[in-house]
Amino acid sequence: MRDQILIAPSLLSADFTKLGQQVVACQEADADLLHLDIMDGRFVPNITFGPAIIAAVRKVTSLPLDCHLMIIEPERYLQTFREAGADWISVHAETCVHLHRTLEQIRALGAKAGIVLNPLTPLEYAFEAAPWADFVLLMSVNPGFGGQQFIPSVLQRIERLRNWLERSGLEIPIEVDGGITAATVADVVRAGASILVSGAGVFGGSSIAESIRALRQAAQR
Ligand code: DX5
Ligand code: ZN
Repeated sequence: MRDQILIAPSLLSADFTKLGQQVVACQEADADLLHLDIMDGRFVPNITFGPAIIAAVRKVTSLPLDCHLMIIEPERYLQTFREAGADWISVHAETCVHLHRTLEQIRALGAKAGIVLNPLTPLEYAFEAAPWADFVLLMSVNPGFGGQQFIPSVLQRIERLRNWLERSGLEIPIEVDGGITAATVADVVRAGASILVSGAGVFGGSSIAESIRALRQAAQR
């Protein structure tokens, strides 16, 4: 059976002058979770926001908050993000010296733990980490910025990972992040992903509700 499709608007592309309203608009448009991109200017060439914004978003929505940590040594901040309201916490393989321990720490805090792989990071990381992860996030752009082009070769990675998970009897959903729009989403779902992050695809149009509807519809094709 195909996993349930979850749409996760990435707040990176939201209008920060009216963040609260846009979060509420996502929830009213039946988004399934909210994706928050934390960048440190070291692991990725950009700096975004930290726990204060997570806490602010937490106050205006009941949606699960999916915090994508693009930071070096994420283990130093796990508790802070969890206390700020993160429900899902994902870490990049390259940022953790002790990945097993970090995933265990996330779970011990009561959050869902995810491992993130960049477009060319070997899938073996996901194979090894899968028993300690609640989801795997495959990047379909190089992390750091919203609004980039989807990298098509990632489709084969999604497929390989999906097949491997099925063969291993592990029911872990695959999340995909970067360049997902109504034009690319169908291929991503067909390849085996079920959690779809979209920034420009949700906030770049004239209506958040309309964009989410279009994404969901295109995902079913
Ligand atoms: C990129 C971030 C993404 C980004 C996606 O480093 O991890 O979550 O917001 O934005 P779009 O959907 O515009 O590519
Ligand atoms: Zn992200």
